[in-house]
Amino acid sequence: MKLKTTLIAALAATTLTGGAAMAAEEAHVTDYSFSFEGPFGRFDQGQLQRGLQVYSEVCAACHGLKFLPYRELAEEGGPALPEDQMRAFAAQHSVTDAETGEDRPAIPSDHFAASNDPNAPDLTLMAKARAGFHGPIGLGINQLLHGIGGPEYIASLLHGYTGETREEAGATLYENHTFPGGWISMPPPLSDDQVTYEDGTPATLEQMSQDVAAFLMWSAEPKMMARKEAGLTAVLFLAGLTVLLWFTNKKIWAPHKGKHV
Ligand code: HEC
Repeated sequence: MKLKTTLIAALAATTLTGGAAMAAEEAHVTDYSFSFEGPFGRFDQGQLQRGLQVYSEVCAACHGLKFLPYRELAEEGGPALPEDQMRAFAAQHSVTDAETGEDRPAIPSDHFAASNDPNAPDLTLMAKARAGFHGPIGLGINQLLHGIGGPEYIASLLHGYTGETREEAGATLYENHTFPGGWISMPPPLSDDQVTYEDGTPATLEQMSQDVAAFLMWSAEPKMMARKEAGLTAVLFLAGLTVLLWFTNKKIWAPHKGKHV
């Protein structure tokens, strides 16, 4: 009788936790494998340039990137635009000069514009703000191998629309599988062939979503590649040092070992 009760309790517990796990999975995030994941991952320069194009032509209508200076676009490890292209890109945007209070074309040390639409959040750090990955986070192994999950969330969000809409308090909400709660106030920003890529890549909804998500990961951490390289150098250095110390230790103690006095 006791055994039976225990079994029923155990069964109920598995079913219940199973249900909870399924509910958590409802917010649908696709696990893309981006080029910059893993300890050896690197940003794909072409992808970042395409992402910059999608951001400028589509997202910048509402969103801002106010923490990102234009000069970063020319840095190695990022979109790496040639210096003159980066300056020309900055000059296409106008900023209000902090000293004179007048509008002038932006220069490399100016930052991207802030959000136009007060309801649209700034996107500079969004890839980090929405980090999160299924699996244990304790040791960070998943993050090390598969990335932090922020770009996956952004890419999934951009093509997670179902096409359903509803009105609420005078505002239109759009059903989206990825957005927590399922209804977002951002209208679907992307559709196939919305931009024309200069490198000839077909501008499918999936492709643009991943490109702009990669670009936003870079904007959140422009020095990611430098950090990974420094980390790797440190690990190799410490490994080398360990081997040397081991031999040194053996050599120092060699005369005293094996002698039984
Ligand atoms: C028409 C204006 C508009 C455009 C264009 C637009 N967005 Fe949005 N976006 C919004 C608004 C408004 C919100 C806030 C939605 C909410 O909280 O319900 C938002 C929210 C977001 C969020 C945050 C979602 C979250 O988890 O809180 C991300 C990420 C995002 N947009 C990315 C993009 C990207 C990338 C593009 C370009 C491909 C883009 N948006 C284009 C208006 C826009």
